[in-house]
This record gives sequence, structure tokens and C-alpha cells, in this order.
Amino acid sequence: MVNWLSIFAIALLCARGWAITPEQMLSAPRRSGAVPNPTGEYAIFSASSYSFEKRASSSSWNLLHLKNGSIQTLDALTEDVSEVVWISGSKSEVIYVNATNEEIPGGVTLWLGDLFEPSSFKLVASLPGAFSGLKVSKTHSGDLKFLINALAYPNGTIYNAETASTPKGTGRLYSDTFVRHWDFWLTPERYALFSGTLKSKENHALSQDGVQNRLTNLNYTVTRPETPVQPFGDEGDYDLSPDGKWVAFLSKAPELAKANYTASYIYLVPFDSPEVAPIAINGPGTPAQGIGALGASAGPRFSPDSSKIAFLQQDGISYESDKSKVYVAAVRHSAPYGGGWSAIAGDWDRSVDSLAWNPDGKSLLVSASDLGEEKLFTLPIDAPSDYEPRNFTTAGTNVADFHVLPDSSVLVSGNSIWSSRDFYIKSEKTTKYLFSATTTDPELEGLSSDDVEQFYFIGALGIPIQSWIIKPKGFQANATYPLAFIVHGGPQGYVVIAPNPTGSSGWGQFLQDSIQNQWGGHPYDDLVKAWDYIEANLTYIDTDRAVELGASYGGYMTNWIQGHDLGRKFKALVAHDGLVSTLGAYATEELWFTQHEYNGTLWDNRENYERWDPAAHIKNFSTPQFIIHSSEDYRLPETEGITMFNYLQSRGVPSRFLSFPNENHWVLKPENSLQWHENVLGWINHYSGIGGPLSDDAIGS
Ligand SMILES: *[C@@H]1O[C@H](CO)[C@@H](O)[C@H](O)[C@H]1NC(C)=O
Ligand SMILES: *[C@@H]1O[C@H](CO)[C@@H](O)[C@H](O)[C@H]1NC(C)=O
Ligand SMILES: *[C@@H]1O[C@H](CO)[C@@H](O)[C@H](O)[C@H]1NC(C)=O
Ligand SMILES: *[C@@H]1O[C@H](CO)[C@@H](O)[C@H](O)[C@H]1NC(C)=O
Ligand SMILES: *[C@@H]1O[C@H](CO)[C@@H](O)[C@H](O)[C@H]1NC(C)=O
Ligand SMILES: *[C@@H]1O[C@H](CO)[C@@H](O)[C@H](O)[C@H]1NC(C)=O
Ligand SMILES: *[C@@H]1O[C@H](CO)[C@@H](O)[C@H](O)[C@H]1NC(C)=O
Ligand SMILES: *[C@@H]1O[C@H](CO)[C@@H](O)[C@H](O)[C@H]1NC(C)=O
Ligand SMILES: *[C@@H]1O[C@H](CO)[C@@H](O)[C@H](O)[C@H]1NC(C)=O
Ligand SMILES: *[C@@H]1O[C@H](CO)[C@@H](O)[C@H](O)[C@H]1NC(C)=O
Repeated sequence: MVNWLSIFAIALLCARGWAITPEQMLSAPRRSGAVPNPTGEYAIFSASSYSFEKRASSSSWNLLHLKNGSIQTLDALTEDVSEVVWISGSKSEVIYVNATNEEIPGGVTLWLGDLFEPSSFKLVASLPGAFSGLKVSKTHSGDLKFLINALAYPNGTIYNAETASTPKGTGRLYSDTFVRHWDFWLTPERYALFSGTLKSKENHALSQDGVQNRLTNLNYTVTRPETPVQPFGDEGDYDLSPDGKWVAFLSKAPELAKANYTASYIYLVPFDSPEVAPIAINGPGTPAQGIGALGASAGPRFSPDSSKIAFLQQDGISYESDKSKVYVAAVRHSAPYGGGWSAIAGDWDRSVDSLAWNPDGKSLLVSASDLGEEKLFTLPIDAPSDYEPRNFTTAGTNVADFHVLPDSSVLVSGNSIWSSRDFYIKSEKTTKYLFSATTTDPELEGLSSDDVEQFYFIGALGIPIQSWIIKPKGFQANATYPLAFIVHGGPQGYVVIAPNPTGSSGWGQFLQDSIQNQWGGHPYDDLVKAWDYIEANLTYIDTDRAVELGASYGGYMTNWIQGHDLGRKFKALVAHDGLVSTLGAYATEELWFTQHEYNGTLWDNRENYERWDPAAHIKNFSTPQFIIHSSEDYRLPETEGITMFNYLQSRGVPSRFLSFPNENHWVLKPENSLQWHENVLGWINHYSGIGGPLSDDAIGS
């Protein structure tokens, strides 16, 4: 899921007026999801914030009382603690990862104890690498079985960046596609899943054989096994059954080229047999292939009684935005392990993002994007294909994380355009609010759902297209405001309009799929129609003072708009990480994406690439444009930003180029983020007439 700050901060800054600075917004605390203890009395979450004064980040662990919403800082869990996991069957027993290791530089340690008695904390395992993603199950005998992941050498041994030898030359030699991805260049190492046991009879010390790599026995022909799948995979990519007997994990299809395909499979293997090869339950030769379930898998989760496994899978073998459907399989005690395999509510026109079992093991709770917000839905595991799931949460908040409590109510960690974090408990009939950042963080004070509205208009495909409206502080309907038009992705006192054109998720798969081979087509036509709607219907918007901002696909769209009539309506444009030369689209590593989006290869379907090439319209470029593109963006290389900037400069169009050498597709470092916001706001304020000169520290020739 997307970071709250990446999308909403700029929208809020646009709308909040002068009351709040980018610096204030970016120093507000960021809180993780809250994870409840086994009895459902407390939940734990981390909070971190950055101080521009001290130029330093700080973080804390916090306890949320689920009865009354009070929050207390857990001082015993210092900043060394990177993860905390509750132990089943107890109230306050935890095991945590201490990200330091006195004996092994670059290693971590596992500690066990009672959260409310810090003197009970004891070191139980010393691990020789940067392990993370701990999952623990307590067996009948009291042993603690755990899974954890780390980088490993090709021979399966743990890799430790601090002690590893460095080669003399810095050259990287490749023989295959996928040489780099997102923000890293591929090295021989891959992430692997390790298992270990803390024996109750031995004072919970790690057993003599240490941790075992569970991927070493997995055969492959083309793509080496790896879990979590990089760059976004985490402990959600694997699971340990509650009885401690089974391990499930996902890994990309071993028989397919990783650059060409999104396909991945779920593997099962008995926990106690590290010598046994894991077996895919939905790969070639399984019933999954017979029904065309060929694509990316996700989120394996064992049922409470360990007898079943639920997971998500897409059909399309190379389409990353295909619909993710829910499946449940039985766990069998002999190979091939996964059986009785079936899709749940397979015709439902929503793509599921995550799932959890209800305590009775008869139904699932799943989250999916629905009409612009992430919501929860209940799904009985015997639901037929035409079953229409009921929403468990209502509109008004995005579900970012959720955990089912023992009484079947659900602890939800949410966010929204107006709040960076809400915690609440939802049951069938009631919603109990425990916390909202709007009541504690001065940056968000006074914000509420009242500041946000939506409208629908008929889009290019003849179906309704939704758009958000975010109103500025002190909004008065009889006044007029400049417009910040955000394509997926304003500023001081703007009305922000953020349409969800063709290609958006949450309105069914037809709208999502219809962007294929239409990059500058249907979505562009939708945006033109959104503009017409605004002009005709939103009298408080002064369309003579309009700016447009877009990131990623929205950055491409900004470059496309620059060459077309809509571009002439705006006083300024901002493109963050936008593609400008579709003929150069093979510079990314995600070839599956390029080949799907243009419906074919550059050599056999060149006309599709040419049709949607913003660079074919350079002669029309004339609206002032700001470009941001960073050096570690390998998904869309920074040369795209430089190319666009050079086109604009050569055509005499006012333009600036901002590049961060140490950021990827996103801008994550607080000081850089501040520079981003100040420059972007400065640009649009200057051209929309709000005022202010452009910053004079831009480097000229
Ligand atoms: C909330 O409940 C906890 C324990 O259940 C208690 O320690 C705490 O004082 C309560 N807080 C408030 C504000 O009532
Ligand atoms: C983490 O480990 C370090 C030693 O590497 C130790 O000094 C520190 O007390 C530990 N912190 C916690 C919270 O366990
Ligand atoms: C595995 O490979 C690494 C790196 O080449 C090497 O240092 C290590 O000794 C090897 N381990 C085994 C068990 O072969
Ligand atoms: C993996 O490959 C080896 C060598 O080809 C073979 O002996 C073994 O049976 C294979 N394992 C599986 C699970 O296919
Ligand atoms: C990747 O896909 C392209 C286009 O279909 C194909 O030409 C190429 O051979 C594929 N490469 C691999 C390694 O499968
Ligand atoms: C489902 O969503 C609708 C529309 O947002 C809402 O009116 C209804 O209360 C929701 N159902 C539940 C159980 O929250
Ligand atoms: C707009 O309406 C408010 C009351 O809603 C009034 O106080 C204000 O004077 C009006 N402004 C203009 C420009 O008409
Ligand atoms: C203005 O809003 C009305 C009512 O929703 C709608 O029928 C009309 O199409 C809108 N105008 C434009 C140009 O979109
Ligand atoms: C994609 O190409 C296939 C044939 O290769 C064609 O049937 C399909 O209509 C194309 N889709 C689009 C959206 O152009
Ligand atoms: C420039 O825009 C005009 C008006 O929309 C259009 O007719 C023309 O084809 C465009 N030229 C290029 C090179 O895109």
C-alpha cells in the first residue's frame, strides 16, 4: 500500500492554506499499524518522526489499550528494537528483534520476555546477518518455532554486508535480463527464508543447528527462488502454521524469466524437515493451471486450526494489475501438500489486497479497493463464484492494516486524506474509535471528512468516473480558488481535484484493464471531461489559475498533456518520474509491464509505442513545467526526466529539473522531501498567481 505521505501530504498542503508549512507536515509522527496481543486487550505500534531542528529521526514503541484507547510509551523497548511479536496463549509474552548484535557486527539478536517486566528480557538467539520479518508459533510442548528472512549467498549461507569481502573491481557483469530493479542492482545474493527453534527445555536457547535456509532445496530452471519477493515483499510473503508444523512462502515462477513475467507460486513444506524440497501448490501441474490461475500469488495465511491455507492469485501471467482472487486449499500431510483447491467468490469484481482468517476458520476478512477507498469485506470460505461479499467497514477511511480479535471484532489501522492514522475496533454493528491523529497532531488539527467531497462524471468509456475534491482551509463557496489538478499521484489555498481516470482500481476490472494500449487515450479523455465538469459546475474554482501535477503514470500523463490541448489550460505543470519516450520503454527492468501496456513488443507492435509517445508532440510543448527525477529510480530511469527537460529547454519553455542522487521512484528522506515540497509549491505558486519568486538557488550554466 502506498505511503500516506506520498499521496495526501501534497494535497493537504495545497488545501491547508498558509496555516501549515511543508516542514510542519513532514515532521508529524508516522505510526505503524497496531498489532493486538492474543487476548485482545492491548495492541503495540511504533511511531517515528523527524526533527528538522535536530536533523535527526526518533522512534518509539507504544501500547494502545483496546478498552479505552489510552496510549503509553514502552520505554524498555529502545530504538534497537526493530520488531515485536506476541507469543500465542499468553497475555504479554513477546519475542523481539534487537537490530544489534554485540558478538557479530551486522547481526541481530532475538530476545524473549514479558512486556510488562523488562527485567525478564533475555537474549535467546544471536543471528549472523540483518534478519527481519519474524513470525513465531508456540507448539504444544512450549517450543517456539520461528521464521525470519535475510540475504543469502547462492550456496544458501547467510550474507552479512558488514563482514562480507568486497571485490577489487566495481564492475558488474550480467548474462540475463533484470540487471537492476526499483533502486538496486542485482548481485549474486537473494533473500531467503530461515527457520529455527527455541527449545522450551533448553531455556529457549536457539537449537544447536541454528537457523536453516528453507529455499536451498527448491529446484529452478530459469529464476532463482527468492522470498520475500523484492523490492516490496516482507513477512506477508510467508506464513508459519499456528501449530508450528507447516511453512508457506511465495517465490517467483522458477521456470520463467523474471523480467518478462509476474507469475509467482505458493510453496508448502513441513517445518521439521529442512531437507525436504518445498512444493508449489499452484504452479505447473497443479489444478491452478487448469483454471488459468497463472499469475502473481500473494498473502499465504494458514487457518487457525492449521488445516487450510488461503492465498491470493491473479490469472494473467504477465499483468501486474490483474484481479487478485481469493483461494483456499487444504493442507495435506503428504506430497503434493496442497489439495481441495478452490476459488472464493471468483466473479466478484474487486481485486483483493490482503486477507485474514476469522477465528472460527469458516470465513475470511479481506481488504480491497472499493470506490476510491480500501475497505474490508467478509467472505465465507464456501462462497460460490457469484457471491457478492458484504463490506465490513464503511466509507470514510482507508484500511491500511487489520487484525481479527478473539471476539471476531477487528482492530483496524486506517488513514484518510485528512488523517495519517486512525485506530478503531469494528464489529458487525459498532465502530469504536480509539485514536485519530487529527486529535493529537497539530498539523492535522481541525481536518475532517468535511474538507473532502467527490463527484462523478461520464468518462471516455461511457461509464462514471470519480474524482476527489479537497477544499482549502476556511473554504467559502462564494469565493474563488486556484485549482491544483492532481493526476494520481496542491499547495497553498488551492482546491485540489484528484480524478480517478481509466486504469484506476476500485471500480471494477473493466476500468482497470481499459488503459492497455490507451495510455494517452481514454485516461486523457477522462481528464478533459473532468476539466469540462469543473468549468461547468464548480463555480468556486478559477480555472484561469490552474496547475497540474502528476507522478509516475501521472508524470507520463503530464508529459502527454504538455503536447495536447489540455496542456494549454494550465499555467504550470509538474511531472515527477514521468516517461517521455515510449520508444525507450525497454530501459526499465519490468518488461512484463511494458509488453502488457503497449500490448506487444517494440519490434512487432511498434505502432502502439509510437501512438502514445509524448515525444511525438514536442512542437506543441509550451506550458512552464517542473520536472523531478531521481538517480536511483530504475523503474523509470532518470534519463526520462533529463530528456523531457532538454526538450523543454531547447524549445524555450520555462522549466526546471530537480534530481536527488539518493532517492528512488519516491522521495523518502525528510530533508529531500522538504526540498521537493518547497520547490514544487514554489513553482505552482509562482505560475498560478499566488505569488512568490522562484527559488534563486537553481544551478545555471
Ligand atoms: C485505560 O485502561 C488501562 C488498563 O486497562 C489503564 O491502565 C489506564 O489507566 C486506562 N486509561 C484511562 C485514560 O482510563
Ligand atoms: C540490544 O542489544 C544490545 C547489545 O547488542 C544491548 O546493549 C541492548 O540492551 C539491547 N536492547 C534491548 C532493548 O534488548
Ligand atoms: C558460501 O559462499 C560464500 C561466498 O562465496 C562463502 O564465503 C562461504 O564460505 C560459502 N559457504 C559454504 C558453506 O560453502
Ligand atoms: C531437484 O533436482 C534434482 C537434480 O536434478 C533431483 O534429483 C530432485 O529430484 C529434484 N527435486 C524436485 C523436488 O524436483
Ligand atoms: C521475453 O518476452 C519477449 C517478448 O515476448 C520475448 O521475445 C523474449 O524471448 C522473452 N525472454 C525470455 C527470456 O523469456
Ligand atoms: C457498507 O458500506 C455502506 C456504504 O458506504 C454503508 O452504508 C454500510 O454501513 C456499510 N456496512 C457496514 C456493515 O459497515
Ligand atoms: C461570502 O459569504 C459569507 C457568508 O457565508 C459572507 O460573510 C461573505 O461576505 C461573502 N463574501 C462575498 C465576497 O460575497
Ligand atoms: C455538470 O453537472 C451536471 C450534474 O451533475 C452534469 O449533468 C453535467 O454533465 C455536468 N457538466 C459537465 C460539463 O460535465
Ligand atoms: C491486444 O492484442 C491482442 C492480439 O494480440 C488483441 O486481440 C487485443 O484486442 C489487443 N488489445 C488492445 C487493448 O489493443
Ligand atoms: C499540436 O496541437 C494541435 C492542436 O491540438 C494539433 O492539431 C497538432 O497536431 C499538434 N501538433 C503536434 C506535433 O502534436
